[in-house]
Amino acid sequence: MLIGVTRETRPGETRVAATPATVRQLTGLGYDVVIESGAGAGSNITDEAYTRAGAAIGTAEEAWRADLVFRVNAPELVEVERLKEGATLVAPLAPAANGSLLTALAAHKVDAFAMDAVPRISRAQSLDILSSQANIAGYRAVIEAAHHFGRFFTGQVTAAGKVPPAKVLVAGAGVAGLAAIGAAASLGAVVRATDPRPEVADQVKSLGGAYLPVDVEVEQSADGYARATSEAYDRRAAEIYSEQAADVDIIITTALIPGRPAPRLITAADIASMKPGSVVVDMAAAQGGNVEGTVEDQVVTTGNGVTIIGYTDLPARLPAQSSQLYGTNLVNLMKLVTPAKDGRIVVDLEDAVQRGLTVVHQGDVLWPPPPVQVSAAPAADTEAKEPGKTEGKAAGAEKKKLSATAAKAALVGTGSLALFLLNAFAPSEITQHFTVLTLAVVVGFYVIGHVHHALHTPLMSVTNAISGIVVVGALLQLTGTDNVVLVLAGVATLLASINIFGGFAVTRRMLSMFRKA
Ligand code: NAI
Repeated sequence: MLIGVTRETRPGETRVAATPATVRQLTGLGYDVVIESGAGAGSNITDEAYTRAGAAIGTAEEAWRADLVFRVNAPELVEVERLKEGATLVAPLAPAANGSLLTALAAHKVDAFAMDAVPRISRAQSLDILSSQANIAGYRAVIEAAHHFGRFFTGQVTAAGKVPPAKVLVAGAGVAGLAAIGAAASLGAVVRATDPRPEVADQVKSLGGAYLPVDVEVEQSADGYARATSEAYDRRAAEIYSEQAADVDIIITTALIPGRPAPRLITAADIASMKPGSVVVDMAAAQGGNVEGTVEDQVVTTGNGVTIIGYTDLPARLPAQSSQLYGTNLVNLMKLVTPAKDGRIVVDLEDAVQRGLTVVHQGDVLWPPPPVQVSAAPAADTEAKEPGKTEGKAAGAEKKKLSATAAKAALVGTGSLALFLLNAFAPSEITQHFTVLTLAVVVGFYVIGHVHHALHTPLMSVTNAISGIVVVGALLQLTGTDNVVLVLAGVATLLASINIFGGFAVTRRMLSMFRKA
């Protein structure tokens, strides 16, 4: 099948849906690729670079008439006619808001994969364009803020005086928010973040930020996203934003609840309390804005000298990076729908990921898809609603507890009997070894069981060293004549060697994740 990559016509768009690197991957899956001449210009990719990667350069017509058409933006209604019947369109389509486009595609017998409808589950992360682009946008938001901010982000002690670090507040710690936290912290700023989902606290901390809890619980929906926050939450959050606005130099807002207008977080009064020279980046400008006074796609400066940035094209401001990650998302989709790597699509509508993003199929509009349960979502609170069920569960748990206690008692009894027999009949040497082994097991259980997760890698090195001792001991026993000892020594050598070499292999894999390509 032929994949066509068209030139984007949306004003200001610099991205392209395929790069030379992704063209190579697509041809590896058995597809031919035609690129509209000049499609990569905004991302500094020449036609020659595409040709070298194995693509053909064609006219707009040739790209639009391909079997599969890749785009960064949804086509206009009038552009649907440019697609050939039976073709497949791969683009972000905002299906919830674009019913007429879906109907037009279905009427024109064009299948459509909406890249912005990928379910947010771990398995689908590699094709999630919202994540890949929001990650870039969060980073770029910090760069934009730094560009407009008249000072360093990092603190410095110089001969010319002491410079305090900039203070950054990030509201909303989803994909974009976390990227912004990481970028601002790596520039040396003091970063704080809020989010109604308390489980992001660890992620915020791990990126170098401090999590500001609002301490009012928020319900989560079954898909793992925050639901609309309560009045009590908003009231307490507003107090925090007011305190922070007077203190911080930069605010980056990314708050979003899918399918709703952006929540208003920062008021005009908060902006008025900020220091002159402060910068606010409102990433939700396209959904109405989290900040009072944001103007979509504009930079405004308030009377008290605060700059409010409302850009909605942040990924397009890093075009080479965005095109590469976007293109890779599309390659990952093609890998999923090309199981035989023979350049032919096979759509499996039983698969939750493929079903989620297939919005038009063989003339039918398939939006919305059935809901997908996300593991991050808390267990539904059916217990509270169904007391009978709760009692049944409690009885079951009690039963389980009793049988666990009985099993424990049986284990202790058997162990004591074995110990008694060993002491009574085994030679004293064995009793001594056994006592050391038992003590080692008990001490090891308590010591290792209490090691913090972050220290598991160094712990693995220690266990490797212990395995080394086991191998040496077992090899020494291999010179004996007793068959039982020989077999045990052989087994010990094998198991300890697996631990050592397996440990090296895992460590090597982990290190390669941090190695620059
Ligand atoms: P996301 O869904 O991963 O994160 C949104 C976060 O906001 C979630 O963690 C959610 O819990 C949080 N949130 C919801 N209500 C909140 C409240 N009242 N207060 C504080 N936090 C709240 O979304 P993602 O992908 O990170 O995108 C964030 C925003 O950035 C969206 O509005 C998106 O459209 C926008 N965006 C803007 C771009 C631009 O060029 N300006 C580019 C890409 C994304």
